[in-house]
Amino acid sequence: MTPRHLLAGLAVLALAACSHSAPPPAATAMSQGGIGTGPAASVAPPTGAKPVPTIFVPPPESAIPRGPFGDMVRLGREIFVDTGVAAKAYVGNGLRCSNCHLDAGRLANSAPLWGAYVAYPAYRAKNGHVNTLGERLQGCFKYSMNGKAPPLDAKEMVALETYAFWMAKGAPTGEKLPGAGYPKKGFKPPQPPDFARGEAVFKTHCALCHGADGQGQQVAGRYVFPPLWGPDSFNWGAGMGQLDNAAAFIKANMPLSQGGSLTDQDAWDVAMYMDAHERPQDPRFKGDLAATRKAYHDTPMSLYGTTVNGHLLGSAPAMRK
Ligand code: HEC
Ligand code: HEC
Repeated sequence: MTPRHLLAGLAVLALAACSHSAPPPAATAMSQGGIGTGPAASVAPPTGAKPVPTIFVPPPESAIPRGPFGDMVRLGREIFVDTGVAAKAYVGNGLRCSNCHLDAGRLANSAPLWGAYVAYPAYRAKNGHVNTLGERLQGCFKYSMNGKAPPLDAKEMVALETYAFWMAKGAPTGEKLPGAGYPKKGFKPPQPPDFARGEAVFKTHCALCHGADGQGQQVAGRYVFPPLWGPDSFNWGAGMGQLDNAAAFIKANMPLSQGGSLTDQDAWDVAMYMDAHERPQDPRFKGDLAATRKAYHDTPMSLYGTTVNGHLLGSAPAMRK
């Protein structure tokens, strides 16, 4: 058997396995995307072993249909990858959604949109009630984009939800899909994260692209490498400001295209180093740092309102432009 035949054979096996466990609707999904068509699905696990989780494969972009629905999907994609231009009124920093949700929101383990779409409505401890996907998207504008939440019926929101809906075609709702979110379950640092070690990791593995000062790099006024802290980065209320989110994202995705190459300890240390720098104020701040920490950051995963390397984090004068 040539390697090519072998691959084809495995693919057939994977398809057979898939149609076995999944009823016809999944088969429809597989023509454009769906569980069981990804690379992880092509190797059958040895008998008795835990099955290799199959990663959902979203439909290819070439499958975006013509017509008004497809136009809305395309607008959603545009907003996702060029947020500061396509949704300018709601963005207050230099980031794009796709800076943290890689490959235009398609990549597993970088909180892909197909994983998110089927996970809402969901209860969130962050605000103590059940959130729709719309409200979840609003949160990313307010904190990750340091901007303003678009109204739920704004065209920008409709577009993003339509893009996510299209990408999740064939995915089961209400299930945590393998590859959804950032892989932080059970991801713990061997030793408590350390600022000085994190600085060393940063210099060796990150500064080349994100800049020695973490401020990213711009070409003609547009960031080609996004800022990790400072006035143009996510604000103190953002999920990436939590050490577990940051460490998991970094471990799985950074340095870019070399995800998985850092040790767990390095990922936690550099996450701590990144999150121990100043960034725009938490928009829920009412003038009292300790009270804001108590109300919204009362967890060891947040450094806000704590002193690291001799600096009280969150105390910098407003960084809004
Ligand atoms: C600075 C990085 C960053 C940026 C920029 C960003 N996000 Fe996020 N996003 C996160 C983090 C962190 C989470 C939480 C992931 C988790 O809990 O596993 C998240 C979660 C989400 C979720 C929920 C995912 C899930 O599986 O529950 C959606 C949807 C989302 N973001 C959409 C967006 C959109 C739309 C934009 C742009 C308007 C955006 N994000 C910009 C970091 C970012
Ligand atoms: C080869 C260049 C490169 C290297 C090296 C690199 N990154 Fe990135 N990083 C990027 C790019 C480009 C993006 C945005 C990805 C996109 O938009 O597709 C990004 C995105 C990010 C983000 C989310 C966006 C933001 O600004 O907050 C974080 C956090 C991050 N990188 C941290 C790190 C850390 C920590 C390291 C070192 C361990 C690192 N990166 C190394 C290129 C790099």
